Amino acid sequence: MSFLDVAPRVVEVIDTRADLPWSERVRVRALERLPLGPSQVRIGMLAMPILPADLLQMKGQYGVLPALPYVPGHEGVAVILECGSEVQDLQPGQRVLPLGGKLWADECVMPRRALLPLSEDGDPLQQAMLTANPATAWVLLQHEGALAQGQWVLQNAANSAVGQCVRQIAAHLGHQVINIVRREQAAARDEGGHWLVDEGSDPQALRAQVRGITGDAPVMLGLDALGGNATAALAACLSEGGRLRVYGLLSGQPSQIAAHDLIFRNIELRGFWLARWFGDPANKQASREVYPALMELARQGVLHMSVEQVYGLGDVAQALAHAAREGRSGKILLRGAHGRP
Ligand SMILES: NC(=O)c1ccc[n+]([C@@H]2O[C@H](COP(=O)([O-])OP(=O)(O)OC[C@H]3O[C@@H](n4cnc5c(N)ncnc54)[C@H](OP(=O)(O)O)[C@@H]3O)[C@@H](O)[C@H]2O)c1
Repeated sequence: MSFLDVAPRVVEVIDTRADLPWSERVRVRALERLPLGPSQVRIGMLAMPILPADLLQMKGQYGVLPALPYVPGHEGVAVILECGSEVQDLQPGQRVLPLGGKLWADECVMPRRALLPLSEDGDPLQQAMLTANPATAWVLLQHEGALAQGQWVLQNAANSAVGQCVRQIAAHLGHQVINIVRREQAAARDEGGHWLVDEGSDPQALRAQVRGITGDAPVMLGLDALGGNATAALAACLSEGGRLRVYGLLSGQPSQIAAHDLIFRNIELRGFWLARWFGDPANKQASREVYPALMELARQGVLHMSVEQVYGLGDVAQALAHAAREGRSGKILLRGAHGRP
């Protein structure tokens, strides 16, 4: 069967009012198949995860806010359907990682330079999740952390996909991790590492628990996905001169931090956004090395992220409602028309 036999669809965000049901905030419509330019490639989407960034953007609270209606989707995995006349090094049928947005569709047209070839035998769901979260974990540990071998890392929301990747990459690099979660069932103790259940309300209590694990060893990197009081709690647990990176705003609250920790203990607090890191000319060389390194870790089985459910593209509203729920055991993904049910 040719891809031309499939009638492609695309998802659009039509309203960002968070009090509306998802079915009134997104729609699925027929996608017009445009002719290919010489350096373009038509790809068929296999799977696309729903990220907190997608949900945040759909609420009008992300760093980039496209005008309505817009096609969402920051990451996914695809198969090549057709190559433009100047694209010599890719073939229809090859699996690729598209680096670019607007991916919640059955088909997309991308410039050749935005596609990374992938191994055909990897799990497509795992490949679909490679772009954002593993890269965030990699850059935070390798480039923001400045960690010496064996040093401790402290992270909250540790059962998130980023948290899983931090744990797996840190173990690979020889660092030790203390994982903080907000509920006992989320502590994935079978994955190893140290686990604490804490809601970030009492920084000194958390500090005592962390010291109980690390003793006098320095804790030099804290990774905060939450903001609010959780920032202060991580800051209190870091050793003098420790680096604290706020990379998520899941609590929806402004980050709090004790001035004492900033002034007298020299805690270095900074925000982190992967998109900005990739766009910084100073990171040009380092950024080229991120995805080859992650693909190799995926091939070796070092990286693995949990999946809770996969929905067809036509069920995007149900999928979004599911992704926005607390207490999931893993990611929610969408399946494009070219993905296997
Ligand atoms: N800055 C960047 O460049 C960048 C890049 C990638 C990801 N991120 C951010 O990284 C974070 C994690 O993303 P992900 O895709 O890995 O997430 P995910 O797999 O969807 O998991 C979300 C996690 O957050 C926890 N959580 C949500 N709200 C919370 C709250 N108020 N207090 C405590 N825990 C809370 C959930 O805990 P339960 O299981 O208990 O519900 C779950 O562990 C997000 O904020 C995302 O935007 C940032």
